[in-house]
Amino acid sequence: MIKKYIYGSPIETSAVVEDIETSNDLIQYFDEIKDENSISFRYVMDNNDIVYGLGEANRGINKRGYIYDSFCTDDPNHTEEKRSLYGAHNFIVVSGMISVGIFVDCAAKVTFDIGYSDSSMIKITPSENDFTVYIIEGKSAYDIIKQFRKMIGRSYIAPRWAFGFQQSRWSYMSKDEIREVVKKYRENGIPLDAVYLDIDYMERYKDFTINEETFSDFEDFVNEMRSQGIRLVPIIDAGVKIEDGYDIYEEGVKNNYFCKRADGSDFVAGVWPGRTHFPDFLNKDARRWFGLKYKFLIDKGIDGFWNDMNEPAMFYTDEGIAEAIEYIKNFDFSNPDSNTFFQLKDKITGLSNRMEDYKGFYHNIDGKSVRHDKVHNLFGFNMTRAAGEAFEELEPNKRILMFSRSSYIGMHRYGGIWTGDNQSWWSHLLLNIKMMPSLNMCGFIYSGADLGGFGSHCTRDLMLRWLAFGIFTPLMRNHSALGTRLQECYNLGDTEDFKNIISIRYSLIPYLYSEYMKACLNDDMMFKPLSFEYPADEFAKTVEDQLIVGESLMIAPVYTQNAKGRYVYLPEDMLLVTFKSSSQRKYQLLKKGMHYISASVNEVPVFIRKNKMLPLCRTTNCTDNMDTSKFEIIAYTSENIEYSMYEDDGISKDYYNPDNYCSFEIREMDGQLGAVSSKTIVKLSLFN
Ligand code: GLC
Repeated sequence: MIKKYIYGSPIETSAVVEDIETSNDLIQYFDEIKDENSISFRYVMDNNDIVYGLGEANRGINKRGYIYDSFCTDDPNHTEEKRSLYGAHNFIVVSGMISVGIFVDCAAKVTFDIGYSDSSMIKITPSENDFTVYIIEGKSAYDIIKQFRKMIGRSYIAPRWAFGFQQSRWSYMSKDEIREVVKKYRENGIPLDAVYLDIDYMERYKDFTINEETFSDFEDFVNEMRSQGIRLVPIIDAGVKIEDGYDIYEEGVKNNYFCKRADGSDFVAGVWPGRTHFPDFLNKDARRWFGLKYKFLIDKGIDGFWNDMNEPAMFYTDEGIAEAIEYIKNFDFSNPDSNTFFQLKDKITGLSNRMEDYKGFYHNIDGKSVRHDKVHNLFGFNMTRAAGEAFEELEPNKRILMFSRSSYIGMHRYGGIWTGDNQSWWSHLLLNIKMMPSLNMCGFIYSGADLGGFGSHCTRDLMLRWLAFGIFTPLMRNHSALGTRLQECYNLGDTEDFKNIISIRYSLIPYLYSEYMKACLNDDMMFKPLSFEYPADEFAKTVEDQLIVGESLMIAPVYTQNAKGRYVYLPEDMLLVTFKSSSQRKYQLLKKGMHYISASVNEVPVFIRKNKMLPLCRTTNCTDNMDTSKFEIIAYTSENIEYSMYEDDGISKDYYNPDNYCSFEIREMDGQLGAVSSKTIVKLSLFN
């Protein structure tokens, strides 16, 4: 049951697709507190209440005990105290004696104080007074989440090749460097499906251009890579370089497609290309114009993109620089004391992403001029929507890979996300683990983090442990920043371990893809906290570092340096499968309860739930070569069970065809359990 309450006259965010009648009653469950300038919503929590949600947010699965500002933010240092990351996902569920969900559909900043100021109080405060609130009642947190997901519409569906392993790094400068990456992966037998093109493929960072010196005959290069089973995935940035003669810039200026200052001039912000204008993605015409520009690369054989810097990120603005210069001019350098010195320093270091600058430009929304900060969280969403809508127009029968850095709920229908610039820190591996279910709650199913960490220097063990988790995330991409230690899998010593771990991923793809597709098509989650599957288990509710992946698996990644294993809580008896490679495995039946599990850096422990099975195909070097006619089944059952697997061509969009399902059955035959399927079963490993 969902109730909708409108406050003021909100801007249409397009987050919700279901038609829900507006209620004129007083809001339920939450107390509405109005003071002179703002409206907030309060909820008194029970001691045992858990708060789920907020999608891409810092801290744990249980969001209780901290304060979060929902405001898309370009900040690569996700230390524990940070309140905002790249996405803004304003949905939480309070789960305890009663369960209730709240979605605050507001395009401006919203603060979620979840027991921070007062440990038993939730206080949600939108920064503007025009917004819509949805209150969702249900039997459980999981039930509420499914209703919410249905309300916001089906999640974006990625092509199946995007489940292959992908390699990225900011600083692949030329075709030859990329050829070298592919060669090394292939030589070392490490599977690979895609290599990313970061900003250096462009001519001086101009969107929809190619650097003709370093990436000449681009179309031929795309084909050359395709013939080796590799896709190239270029980046598209939000800022358009200001440069006479550059068609995108000139068309944008001519048609008033860029965001404006209050005086009507085109707003300027400094990003990678230098001074840029921001396309006004909230203006329908500008959105379509920019979206159709992706054709430039699609026509060259590209079928995947990542949208970046779309919070939007601003290194500086003309206004900010002018202010800083003025400040410096008037600064008394004769004897700066600690206060004045740090003020000076802050003037310079604070030039990026200033709130004043977000208040300094305007969008044209259906003819109405709207100041950016009031709709800030819709910018990245609408950049990705621009692409998504254009793909529908340009390639109606083909799936194109698309994911974005900044996002708002609603964008999940047009693309996935990556979680932005993390660091090569063990704590960020743990953050990645904890974030997956929250992302799924908000509709972001095709998602993942920069494996190995983007900033800082990665170590071999961190990369191996991160990959051992990353083999389960739909987006499995190793990405790192310019200037950091090289972290391609062949650059971290003894490649055999990397080859083995990534080979497990390729055996798992049919299962992972099936669970991914079912999550998208049924408004469900692929990654769940344990409590969603074991609601009566009080201890399971406190476990934040183990996840349920699809219907058959539980995972418990190791995220501590030098650990030789870890403690794992089993909410029921399970079968532990310790993978050393796709074919080398050890099995152990474990009883419900706490166990210490050994797992060296080159091993991946996976738990198969009771009365469930895991179908595995043969590993391969890229998804083009995957053979999904033959399967090996690992099952933990003494009963007849069935697994329904979703499978399609991975490219076209006939999602609802019943022929896309095939089944694997473990069935009693002649007094013995055996496997039955339309697929060839090459081996059954049965445990009971
Ligand atoms: C941003 C992106 C990062 C990319 C870099 C250069 O920091 O988040 O992934 O590599 O820009 O384009």
